[in-house]
Amino acid sequence: MFDAPTARQLRRTDFPPDFRWGCSTSSYQIEGAVDEGGRGESIWDRFCAQPGRIRDASSGAVACDHYHRWPEDLDLAQSLGVNAYRFSIAWPRIQPSGRGPGLQAGLDFYERLVDGMLERGLQPWATLYHWDLPQALQDAGGWVQRETVDAFVDYADLVVRRLGDRVRHWITHNEPWCTAFLGHAEGCHAPGVQDFGAAIQVCHHLLLSHGLAVPVIRAACPGAQVGITLSLHPIHAASDSAADQAAVQRHDGLRNRWFLDPLHGRGYPADTLALLGDRAPQVAPGDLQAIATRTDFLGVNYYFPEEVADAPGQGPLATRVVEREGVPRTAFGWEVSPEGLVELFTRVQRDYTPGPIYLTENGSTWDDTLGPDDQVPDEQRLDYLARHLAAAREAMRQGVLLKGYFAWSLLDNFEWAEGYTRRFGLTYVDYPTQRRILKASGQWYARFLHA
Ligand code: FCB
Repeated sequence: MFDAPTARQLRRTDFPPDFRWGCSTSSYQIEGAVDEGGRGESIWDRFCAQPGRIRDASSGAVACDHYHRWPEDLDLAQSLGVNAYRFSIAWPRIQPSGRGPGLQAGLDFYERLVDGMLERGLQPWATLYHWDLPQALQDAGGWVQRETVDAFVDYADLVVRRLGDRVRHWITHNEPWCTAFLGHAEGCHAPGVQDFGAAIQVCHHLLLSHGLAVPVIRAACPGAQVGITLSLHPIHAASDSAADQAAVQRHDGLRNRWFLDPLHGRGYPADTLALLGDRAPQVAPGDLQAIATRTDFLGVNYYFPEEVADAPGQGPLATRVVEREGVPRTAFGWEVSPEGLVELFTRVQRDYTPGPIYLTENGSTWDDTLGPDDQVPDEQRLDYLARHLAAAREAMRQGVLLKGYFAWSLLDNFEWAEGYTRRFGLTYVDYPTQRRILKASGQWYARFLHA
């Protein structure tokens, strides 16, 4: 069903007329201009400056220079034919130290950007936190500290008061799992902490800050549509053994249910809490009610399924992610599985009935090359895109309330710890010249959307 030739036959008219079509980016990955407009230092500036943290020793200091080139980038998005654009706001551009009054230059920048979207028929979808915490807040303990929750709610209030007359779609956090576990347990993302217990407390504070921000956003923007974006994965067992099957349950508990359950009013999953023991988060009275505040949609980023095996003694979950052999993988090593999209979304729909769901990120990285003819023949990305759209269509056919699809990403950009070695864009960025070249996949998406 999801073979490439069939998927390429898909038409936009196979989706409902009110389906949202978009592409996604994030501030630190594209903006550059880290010292302009009074912007404060972010944890990613600090992290990138530490030797050995980023694969190519790069940083987002220049990135795609989107801070200066945004009109061209929005033109590009418009030329694709999308009707929505998901971007994120850099907290250190608004509050350089993470607290205090909003910086005019920062607020003005996003206001111009948003006006640029509206002029081009692009519905703005703003993410408030896509990982670039002001370093000053990190110096005071960052997301491990409950005070950061209050700081986030103030920041959200400030931003939405200024932009809420033109931005209606708000995402509080992007992928709290990554912030918590890549940033605080594995330490391969900023702030580079390796402390599993801290990561668990960070999860709680991220979710709490989301829940407390929802009513504040609604108050500042009547009619706002507010949600959160989670990175979710179908989890499969490495073998038929009972031990590996049980490992799936444990892994799923922290990867998926740890976020989905409290957001849907069920509190933290009991089986996972039991495994965590004294590393369970500190939860104050009222926190779980706040986290379960009703939202208007659920954002899901889908990239790949995970396969796990029982691994006695390995971490509190005693599981290990294994790489199944003989399956197609992107240049990142992520398994390509459109079937996984159907499995994941039907599961979320069945187990949680979350209301409208938006696929807020989906995409792939390949070793793209710019040919002498100025073409980037990224057939694998094109196939990935077409096959995942076919899967999205199938998930809807099976009853999933999917309302929109955002491709990751409009542009090649700074891929966190991988630096510029991973290209995810529908558009190729020639970094030395900052020239943008629409790849074959981008051309296909545009033909699909214009048909
Ligand atoms: C997601 C992130 C996004 C990008 C893609 C490839 O986890 O949200 O910023 O890095 O992966």
